[in-house]
Amino acid sequence: MSSDEFPTDRPAVVTCGLPYANGDLHIGHLRGYIGADAFNRSLETLGQETAYVCGSDMHGTPVAVNAEQQGVDPEDFALEWHEQYKETFPQFNVDFDNYGHTHDETNTELTQDIVRTLDEKGYIYEKEIQVAYDPDADQYLPDRYVVGTCPYCGAKARGDECDEGCQRHLEPGEVEDPTSTITGNPAEYRERAHKFFEVSEFADYLTEFLDGLEGTSNARNQPRQWIEDGLQDWCITRDMDWGIDYPDAEDDGDDLVLYVWVDAPIEYIASTKQYSERVGKDVYDWEEVWKDDGVSASGGSPDEQRESGGDIVHIIGRDIIQHHAIFWPAMLEGAGYNAPRGIAATGFITINGKGLSTSRNRAIWAKEYLDEGFHPDLLRYYLTTTGGLQQDVDFSWEAFQEKVNGELVGTVGNFWYRSLLFAYRNYEGTPEADVSEEVHERIEGAIGETREAVNDYDLRGVGHAATRLAQFGNEYIQRNEPWKLTDEEPERAAQVIRDCVQIAKAVGVLLEPIAPDKAQDLWAQLGEDGDVANAHLEDALEAPPRTFDEPGELFAKIEDERVEELTEKLEERVDAASSDDGDESDDGETESDDTDAVESDDMADTDDLEPLLEDRIGFEDFQELDIRVGRIEEAEGIEGADDLARLEVDIGFETRQVVAGIKQLHDLEELPGTKCVLLANMEPAELFGVESNGMILAAGEEADLLTTHGDAEIGEKIK
Ligand code: 2FM
Ligand code: ZN
Repeated sequence: MSSDEFPTDRPAVVTCGLPYANGDLHIGHLRGYIGADAFNRSLETLGQETAYVCGSDMHGTPVAVNAEQQGVDPEDFALEWHEQYKETFPQFNVDFDNYGHTHDETNTELTQDIVRTLDEKGYIYEKEIQVAYDPDADQYLPDRYVVGTCPYCGAKARGDECDEGCQRHLEPGEVEDPTSTITGNPAEYRERAHKFFEVSEFADYLTEFLDGLEGTSNARNQPRQWIEDGLQDWCITRDMDWGIDYPDAEDDGDDLVLYVWVDAPIEYIASTKQYSERVGKDVYDWEEVWKDDGVSASGGSPDEQRESGGDIVHIIGRDIIQHHAIFWPAMLEGAGYNAPRGIAATGFITINGKGLSTSRNRAIWAKEYLDEGFHPDLLRYYLTTTGGLQQDVDFSWEAFQEKVNGELVGTVGNFWYRSLLFAYRNYEGTPEADVSEEVHERIEGAIGETREAVNDYDLRGVGHAATRLAQFGNEYIQRNEPWKLTDEEPERAAQVIRDCVQIAKAVGVLLEPIAPDKAQDLWAQLGEDGDVANAHLEDALEAPPRTFDEPGELFAKIEDERVEELTEKLEERVDAASSDDGDESDDGETESDDTDAVESDDMADTDDLEPLLEDRIGFEDFQELDIRVGRIEEAEGIEGADDLARLEVDIGFETRQVVAGIKQLHDLEELPGTKCVLLANMEPAELFGVESNGMILAAGEEADLLTTHGDAEIGEKIK
């Protein structure tokens, strides 16, 4: 990686995947928006100039199909959802500097301008292709109007994405056994002229782009394989009337618009432009960020573009890596814009260990969460510190309660309250003493951890730097027992409490990106003026005001009864949705987001299961198995072996090479970053000339890989 560390002297822009304006927001969406917001706030605490922008994704079949189902005009339909999203995000403290939408004038003009430039530069050509067509409905069937079989992995797939299988983008005409989602009839393929963008021309550029790209390993590594496999050109038009018109197209009666994935990412630029126009270019200049000053035109490398432009960071769902790490940088390069610095791709969200499914109502809805009266910062903390950015995160009300009660109530809240209350009662605020060297150094250490975590795109690290500091505060107060010192050693007591107030303030500054409201409440309790959001990491070492008022408790415990009630409610509604469906199989609904991982939760028929073993083993026998939490770092097929793959698995102490029979059963490109469970003291074996030093655990014929769903660290023993 070649970029300088954050903070840089360049303006940054942080974006997150645009939500399709087609349905209610849920925890799967929130994970991305909260994550990107926390990352942007973290950059600000480092002193980085930055903007956080996004917008609603208004076009394409995800919107058109849903609007049609409700019998409404797609524009009205999408605008209504757009307005709703604009109201919802701030309720989760997701603070966009600009939130636009892809149908507005800025994006429409910019999109047409970029496509025109690509055309002028010779990167676009027309070609006759086979397009799915429904003779009964008498219309072409772009994208979600057609379903069929993925030609790569055989899973059920939509017209433009293998959403239930290998997650690949599919070109028109690729899906096999096409069926119209309008009539349910088999579709036929008809010849039709469409526009193509020459992505294949950018293979070398993209390889270099990936070499210097920062972010999560899945976003940096998976696209290399796609490039090695050979890049296909990309069809950028669709037979629809809802969307942005191909620029300067003759009106020949055909409804031809740009593919939604052309104008959607351009909204990142359009939204930055709107922000820049609102605050003034002297405050934030969108062109400085996005437009290269001739670097690309003169054949500048991605790294040179990164240095000459702004720090562009995309936070996305892992199912849209190909769009962001292949199509998008190729478009930017072709049209003379700067290369992104980082792409961080989040894992999926599961609910009680099962795939989030909006059709089965197995989701935590944004509105529902707020209606239950929970503070948004609790969810922010849960989502950002469980599993980091890249790992899948399981949500259950129980795990939520455990995290909130343990870390926020028990550690942070407890430390804040006991320190400030003691300080208030005995000194009416911050005692007059200097911060001890020990505490000064400990706070400096936490600042360093935060800085490192931000540069590693590690939000969990950001949250943990704050909670660990609070944990230290609790230990410090406990160890020094100031309550025993006030009479006998008043100076020493004042010193200890002075330290504690400083730690409390530092925890507030460090926690702000994750829990902005709670940090602000603490800030106000300390009698600080202004917003903690404007504080920089170094302010954690600045003395708090001399006096402050009696503090209150900032976090409240979630009671067991509440969790039982919420868990039951969730189960009831999932059951109700399943019985409405008639069965538990996937109903082929149009998922509205980029983060759903739909899984079947059918109960297994015990006749098909291997019988239980009669013989029991003792606990000591079990203890002989050294089973560890691991993370797959690399996965590749073993040449000559049909079923075997070679994996590199990080188990904390070391990285193990393991051979597993999963070559045909998993998309190996998808595996890096996945947490797994490894039997570490398995005798080494050699298979096809490759040493296997451990065994990853999996269930069933399909080798369903075992994993953990909480925040177990890599290397932790399973017992
Ligand atoms: O997959 C999705 O939900 C898209 N709406 C994301 C678009 S992100 C971007 F590139 F615009
Ligand atoms: Zn597939």
